[in-house]
Amino acid sequence: MTEIVYPPWRQRLARSLHINRRQVHAKYYQVASVCPAGRPKNRTMVFRGFLANSQSLLSVTDIRSEKVAHWQGKHKSHFEICWYFSGSREQYRLSGEVALLSHSLDLSYTQSVLGQQTKQSLLKQQWSNLSANARQAFYSSSPKAPFDENTTLAISAKEQPTLGKKPEEIDIGSSQISDNFCVVIFIPDTVDYLNLKSKPQERCLYDIQDDWKERWVNP
Ligand SMILES: Cc1cc2nc3c(=O)[nH]c(=O)nc-3n(C[C@H](O)[C@H](O)[C@H](O)COP(=O)(O)O)c2cc1C
Repeated sequence: MTEIVYPPWRQRLARSLHINRRQVHAKYYQVASVCPAGRPKNRTMVFRGFLANSQSLLSVTDIRSEKVAHWQGKHKSHFEICWYFSGSREQYRLSGEVALLSHSLDLSYTQSVLGQQTKQSLLKQQWSNLSANARQAFYSSSPKAPFDENTTLAISAKEQPTLGKKPEEIDIGSSQISDNFCVVIFIPDTVDYLNLKSKPQERCLYDIQDDWKERWVNP
């Protein structure tokens, strides 16, 4: 079996995750998209690991959320992640393309992105990693819909089995993956690393076009 050699930034990031592992917020990053009016939009998301045998990063979201609309379409699927590790005082800014994976989205480019993993296995794996509470949100009414206590659990006919049930009572087996559930794959093509702890401070740029070679620059 051939050993996978990851880009140096990916190894560095794995080390930062390890050093900062006791801080819950070390798994949160800010993710930017661009809305149809051309304005930048950003939000916090949870890092849910690397795609197997790759340097792509995984998060999950609801397909009804605005960011998904921003990332659909050929020229709109760009992201920038800003990730600060307060323990080690390191910042990573990663940018590239997004691939969206969901039962209700049919996007042809995802298989090449997935490598040996199948769409179904990745959806299943990420769905099973969620708590019952987190899963229930995908069956609730749409993000940004006006709040109404009575309709929060108003669920489409297809999702009726969960109606009126407490999160712990919902059957959340693999066949129950919500159609609203979406795995987001962030495929970086450039990385900008900044280390405020080192003396002098360090900044390193990486570009896939340059074979991910380290380019040390002034901060
Ligand atoms: C700590 C924290 C973690 C979050 N993680 C996620 C996440 O993993 N996925 C997600 O879709 N939203 C997550 N959110 C909510 C988003 O920040 C955002 O409010 C929501 O997704 C709607 O964003 P949008 O309207 O830009 O699509 C998180 C919020 C916080 C504060």
